[in-house]
Parts: sequence; C-alpha cells; structure tokens
Amino acid sequence: MTPRRPWEDSRIVLGVTGSIAAYKSIQVARDLTQLGARVDVVLTQSAQNFARPLSFEGVTGRPALTDLFSAEGAALHVRLGRDADALCVAPATADFLARAAQGRADDLICTTLLATRAPIVICPAMNERMFAHAQVQTNLTHLRSELGYTIAGPSEGALAVGEADGPGRMIEPWQIVEHVGQALAGTGTLTGKQVLVTAGPTREPVDPVRYIGNRSSGRMGYAIAQAAWRRGAEVHLVSGPSWMEPPVGVHLISVETAREMHDAVNHALPDMDVSIFAAAVADFRPGNPEEEKLKRADTKGDFTVSFTGNPDVAGDTVSRRKPGSVAVGFALETRDLIKNAEKKLIAKSFDLLVANDVTEGESGFDVPTNRVTILSPGSEPEELPLMLKLSVAEVILDRICDRLTNEL
Ligand code: CTP
Repeated sequence: MTPRRPWEDSRIVLGVTGSIAAYKSIQVARDLTQLGARVDVVLTQSAQNFARPLSFEGVTGRPALTDLFSAEGAALHVRLGRDADALCVAPATADFLARAAQGRADDLICTTLLATRAPIVICPAMNERMFAHAQVQTNLTHLRSELGYTIAGPSEGALAVGEADGPGRMIEPWQIVEHVGQALAGTGTLTGKQVLVTAGPTREPVDPVRYIGNRSSGRMGYAIAQAAWRRGAEVHLVSGPSWMEPPVGVHLISVETAREMHDAVNHALPDMDVSIFAAAVADFRPGNPEEEKLKRADTKGDFTVSFTGNPDVAGDTVSRRKPGSVAVGFALETRDLIKNAEKKLIAKSFDLLVANDVTEGESGFDVPTNRVTILSPGSEPEELPLMLKLSVAEVILDRICDRLTNEL
C-alpha cells in the first residue's frame, strides 16, 4: 500500500526553543515531512544547545533557520509567517511563552508568530514547578484566550531530572503531529458537532479471571474518532478493551461489557449530532458468571456455559437519538454481505451502514486495512477499494458530512 501523504502542499513552520525535549522535535519534523508537508524549522539560539540544525536539515531536506537577520533576506519572518498553513512551537519554554505573550519580536520564531495569520500550536515543556507558577499560567491563559493559540500539553511523566508530580513533560511527537493536523484542517467540516463512536470488542465474564471476547482490535472505530477530531468535532469514544493508544483530543469512556457500553451510549446519545456504532458488541453473555474462579477439579474436564442475550446497543437506543442526527452502523458478515447488511440498515434505523466481509484476509478484524461497501436507504451500494482504515474513516465522514449539510 502506498504511504499516505495527506499534507502534500501544506507549509508548516516548526519552532524549536531551548529545552532538552528539543530532541523529540526532530521526530516531529520527520513525521510531518513524511506526511507530505514542507517543513521549515526555526531554532532559537538556546535550542541549538540541545539539537543541531543539521539534524533537522537531514529529516526535512530544507535548511534549518536560526537568524532573524540572515542572508535569507531581511523579511524572512514575514515570508515564513505569510506562507505558513500552520505554525507549531515544540518544545516551548517558559521564557518563550513569556516573550510570545508579550508580543516580543526579538528572535525569528516570535517575529514569525506576529507576521502570520495561520493557526498556531504551542507545546510547552518545562519543570513541573515552573509550569505550575502563576506567571506561566497567566501567560498561557493569555496565549489561549486572547490570541487564540492552541496549547497542547504538557503531559505528566518523567522529566529530564527525574520523576515529576505534575504536568511539565512535552507531549509525544505523534500527539504533536495530530494537533498540527487539526490546525491544518482549520475550521473543519465537523466543527461544533458532537460525535459519538463505539469501538472495540466487549468482554463478558465467565468468572473473575476469564471472559468471552472477540477479535476486534478497535482500529476502525479509533480511526474514525481520530479523523472526526481532526475535522473539528468534539468526539466521545466509548471503547471496549483495546491495546490501541486512545486518539489525541477525544473523550475516552472505557467499558468492558455490552451492558456497560449500552449504559454509556444511552447516557450520551441525546446530545450527539453523529453516532457511529463501530464496536463488535457481544450479542450473548454467560448467564450466571461464577463469583469465584472456576477450579479445574470442579469441572472434571468438561463444563457447560449457558448464555443469555445482551442488549443491542445501537438498536435499543434508536429513540434516544437527537432528531436530525446521523447514525452509522457496521455489519460484519461472513456470507450474503449486502443482503444481511441491508436488513441491519433498516432494522436499526441507520442512515448509513458500512458493510464488510470478515472472511477476506486484508479486511475486517485486527488488520490496518479494510474493504467496505457503504449502504444508505434508497441509494445504490457504494463499493470502496481496499484502503487503510484511516482512509476508510475519511470516506465515511465525507458521507456523514454530506447528510448533515442536506439536513440544514
Ligand atoms: N451492535 C450493537 N449492539 C449489539 C450488537 C451489534 O450496537 N449487541 C451494532 C454494531 O456495533 C453494528 C451493528 O449493530 O453497528 C451491527 O452489528 P453486527 O454484529 O454485524 O450485527 P448483529 O445485530 O449482532 O446481528 P448478527 O450477529 O445476527 O449478524
């Protein structure tokens, strides 16, 4: 599968200031470049104590910029600011935050911030005691509320000097890339919309240590949640157990069983503009789970588990959907794909149904790709080619956005 270069033609300025976290920004510059963007890295004097301009040049294939007054021309900051589709400063030190909040123009990054009208993402990194200081917090509030910058992070976790007991650590490179992606999307097609996504498997207990589950990884639902957030939605991800890292920016509601998922969805649904049911919910659960661990000796080798029906999360909550909202279901089939999917589309009152045949190796459970057919009442089925799940997610969201526009 050819690599995705979704940000081809986008121009990003990555500012790097003087923190040990600067080494992580080399990865950010590399990832943004691989996604197709043209990345201009600007380093402050003190950043160069932590990461060399040459390292950034190696991963972006472009000169790293360091001087406000350079051979590049006096108006370098104006050109950088004017041409940029998004700016990101990572890491952003306490000193940089103070200068940016004051509108100072004493280095190439700060002057470029003043010269741009593009969205700006700031990723602070500093000692947790410094981050908690009232002056730093005042500067951040000013940057966020008055100037409209996005402040991404910091997170909690180990700092260069050891463990910290509060936020200070710069967020991880992949999270920074996500924030830049959302900035590039600008006012996305789902800005202001509330989106619910169910994802992953459910686990139904047999006893306190054993459960019945299924092969769903959550990849498809997580990809949809990620793509919807990038388009500006407020995303609520109700997820069964998954090894996947929760996508950046979403509200994660973790559940285990179908009944827990049912309760979480039932609670959230009335406020949702879009609901997407991508979870592989167990239709049955052991009727009488054991309170104590089943011992091998007790079973004498053989034992029977009797099952009882689980709630149908999507089907039972139809009446809770907000009028005019769009509901999307999935159908996993091993035979008669379209016929079975059409039945589900009608039975569960979905506006769209994404059908996939799980017997195909590269499609369905626990693989990064999917081949799906999208159904909607009164339209011909739309068969998509084999695609990465993130690309399938984009097509599903395009169809959802078409319907939301038609509702207006
Ligand atoms: N679904 C649900 N709750 C369930 C079962 C399914 O919310 N207990 C949702 C799924 O998330 C999906 C759609 O309903 O969006 C169809 O799921 P699927 O498992 O394909 O169908 P079922 O209704 O379970 O029917 P069957 O098992 O007979 O194919």
